[in-house]
Amino acid sequence: VKQLSVALVGGGFMGKAHSLAYSLAPIAGDVGAQVSKRVLVDADATTARTLASQLGWESSSGDWREVVERDDIDIVDICTPPQFHREIALAALAAGKHVFCEKPLANTVAEAVEMRDAAQRAGVVAQIGFNYRHSPAIEFARLLLDRGQLGTPLQFRASYLQEGGFNANPNLWRAKRSTGGSGFVGDVGSHIIDTAEYLFGDIARVCGLARTSSEDGWMPESERLATDALDEAGVWIAEFANGALGSFAVNRLSSGHKNQILFGFDASKAAVEFDWNQRDEFRVSYVDGPADHMGFQTIHMNTEHPNGWWRLAGIGSGYAEVSAIQFQKFLRAIVSGVRAEPDFDQGLHVQQVVEAVLDSAAVGGWVDVPSRLPVPAGAR
Ligand SMILES: NC(=O)c1ccc[n+]([C@@H]2O[C@H](COP(=O)([O-])OP(=O)(O)OC[C@H]3O[C@@H](n4cnc5c(N)ncnc54)[C@H](O)[C@@H]3O)[C@@H](O)[C@H]2O)c1
Repeated sequence: VKQLSVALVGGGFMGKAHSLAYSLAPIAGDVGAQVSKRVLVDADATTARTLASQLGWESSSGDWREVVERDDIDIVDICTPPQFHREIALAALAAGKHVFCEKPLANTVAEAVEMRDAAQRAGVVAQIGFNYRHSPAIEFARLLLDRGQLGTPLQFRASYLQEGGFNANPNLWRAKRSTGGSGFVGDVGSHIIDTAEYLFGDIARVCGLARTSSEDGWMPESERLATDALDEAGVWIAEFANGALGSFAVNRLSSGHKNQILFGFDASKAAVEFDWNQRDEFRVSYVDGPADHMGFQTIHMNTEHPNGWWRLAGIGSGYAEVSAIQFQKFLRAIVSGVRAEPDFDQGLHVQQVVEAVLDSAAVGGWVDVPSRLPVPAGAR
């Protein structure tokens, strides 16, 4: 069995989720490797030592530069605020390490391009942390679409709503682009863009609006742009490359919604609905159902479905489990030498959609999203 040693950079909110996930992933299923949580790195040595002890890491460091070059490290996992992703990823890739990077891949398309190119050149596994797409119900939807059971994709509608805008912000870096924030379209909008592209294929063009709150309602857009205040809400419509239609909404001033990813789509043979707050359910309505049973049916996830851990439906799954599923795939990709999904190229395309939405919001009207280049031979 292969031994894989991990260096985690950034032991905050996501560092905790990834720490749980590395422990759970090999327990819940055979990943073909033994995983060592070798070293946790944070901004200074004292913080790193405390976090390493709490989150179950063998050692700690206050200097990622020294760690990413070490011979006893196979995987560098980046959980810092986004403004550090590029620098850490490029150093880790140059040292030949497999890289897992939290979303958004970076804060600009230019940085994301550099990271994608470096990952393809390095020929290592480079995966981005769009964790939600690994939910068994979302993977089941993709499976049914691939099998043709749902028919041709027609329309996708998604929202990602949180209520954090009403609370004091514990992540001060999120507030400004200069400290690493990417705005709500980049921060959580990236997840629903990824899910949409995972299920319906690439988005080709968008038309959107973005807003930030003021004392009384929304700040005038000219003031938001002049002060570099990051967007707190956005809406956009989209056209997919295959002709399907999309509509999206993100808002961090949405009372009662907690952390709600809600989407539905219509295809020519069926419609599907998903709500992260009810993540173990898959809702589908088939066009050709029996006349006296027309409508949505609710299917509960178990081992009959992709990534299912429990034979018994209704046991329930959470954030840590879904995060662990993504690491099962990452570890298996390293062991078997295949390409990981979603990789940095997919992360870049999501970033291009984010930037197109924000460009559209700034100038008005439709903005085209670049189409993806073919993945070069040898890239993983
Ligand atoms: N996939 C998801 O569901 C999800 C959820 C939340 C956050 N995220 C992403 O994860 C990343 C981190 O977000 P978070 O909420 O965990 O932030 P956080 O502020 O909770 O944690 C960031 C950690 O990184 C450390 N850090 C900062 N600069 C560093 C440096 N130069 N070297 C080493 N450590 C450094 C901080 O001290 C802190 O411990 C962001 O990219 C964010 O968008 C993803």
